[in-house]
Amino acid sequence: MNGFKVRGGASLHGVARVGGSKNAALALLAGALCVEGEVVLHNFPAVSDVLLMVDLLRLMGVKAERNGDTLWMDVRGLNCSEPPENYVRKMRASFYLMGPLLARLGRAKMPVPGGCQIGTRPVDYHIKGLHQLGVEITQTQGAYEAVASQLVGAEIYFDFPSAGATQHLMTAAVLAEGNTLIQHAAMEPEVLDLAYFLNRMGARIEGAGTNTITIQGVRKLQGGEYSLISDRVQAGSYLLAGAITHGDVTVEGVHPEHLQPLNLKMRECGVNVTEGNDWVRVQNPNRHNATDITTMPFPGFPTDLQQPMCAFLTLANGASVVREQVYDGRNKHVGELQRMGADIKATDGRTFIINGVDRLTAARVEAHDLRGGAAMIIAALAAEGESLVSGAEYVDRGYQGFEEALNNLGGSIERVALEAEDSAVVSSTP
Ligand code: UD1
Repeated sequence: MNGFKVRGGASLHGVARVGGSKNAALALLAGALCVEGEVVLHNFPAVSDVLLMVDLLRLMGVKAERNGDTLWMDVRGLNCSEPPENYVRKMRASFYLMGPLLARLGRAKMPVPGGCQIGTRPVDYHIKGLHQLGVEITQTQGAYEAVASQLVGAEIYFDFPSAGATQHLMTAAVLAEGNTLIQHAAMEPEVLDLAYFLNRMGARIEGAGTNTITIQGVRKLQGGEYSLISDRVQAGSYLLAGAITHGDVTVEGVHPEHLQPLNLKMRECGVNVTEGNDWVRVQNPNRHNATDITTMPFPGFPTDLQQPMCAFLTLANGASVVREQVYDGRNKHVGELQRMGADIKATDGRTFIINGVDRLTAARVEAHDLRGGAAMIIAALAAEGESLVSGAEYVDRGYQGFEEALNNLGGSIERVALEAEDSAVVSSTP
């Protein structure tokens, strides 16, 4: 187990360049299985979840080589319809392979997926949607077995606009016979990026980025090149690290329109936020004000920035109420922030009341999940003294060179190997 020693107290200043989006990369890797040819992805992030997915695709007959931030793949050799359980259990997005496997190979066997423990994360929309596309699915011994001689277009409606289900069913529908209509679809930038990618390969998708998506099935997708969008959560995390330390931080290589919910909320708190074509800058010389946050599907405030935002609000002037509307268990940061002296309470596991305090103090804390880990580092950068954040493995799932980037901005973060007793002190979950 690894962790981070974080010495807090310095204001962050400077420029951080943001790489490709983890969530877009995972969706595009799954979508690439629909392609019978070579695919080149630029701005490709080397975070551990994405690299795990690339390894999984290699095991399934896909050739893949990474050179810097470019990934080359040849998908013609795809020959495995049963991804190994140890991969799928580690990463929820591997479940998105099911639709493309059905489209290409006519069958798939997928273990029930894993991922960060941030609440109950069912896959019922995925299963129902595949069923509507003509797939026969049975569930046996912790796995879904699915067969379809030919996927057929259908009308699909989500009770909640799930990003993953929208992406997954889009990739299943591109090779279906006839037209598919997805209503109450997710409008996340990563959904739009997947649609642009698939269209570049020959798919016919319209309406992505709105809540109604139409997909006209085609017989085949061929290869091509594509450049991924940048990671809005990584960008938002650097901005919050700059703002909480009363610094002056610019993120470059970003899409400011993807960061609007965060930028508007930071402005409400009194942070000076300026934007250009591909950059956003925060300046926060004075103590910021409290605000209320409700997480929602895009363009609402992103759940993936809820925990970092909570860290930021612990030092605000006044009381904030944060409501987590997307997941029912994204709350383990609350106890960890309390260890640092934050006045934060969870009233029902999804609502957090934060009374801003004058200072945070260093503590041993744990990253229980990916974004919770980022929140701990952000809080520790502003706390007095040296904190120890365990669970670096979680942070590595979604942040490429996080500590290097923050150190370049003037932070003091060191990756350390934790002894069993160190991690036992702070660890309460596996
Ligand atoms: C994706 C992102 C994740 C982000 C989330 C919401 C990836 C790899 N992960 O996760 O970082 O936090 O979008 O923006 O892209 N739901 C169901 N049944 C389903 C599917 C979802 O009830 O079949 C529920 C979930 O439990 C959750 C909500 O829908 O409450 C949203 O989940 P969803 O948008 O699907 O999240 P993911 O795609 O898993």
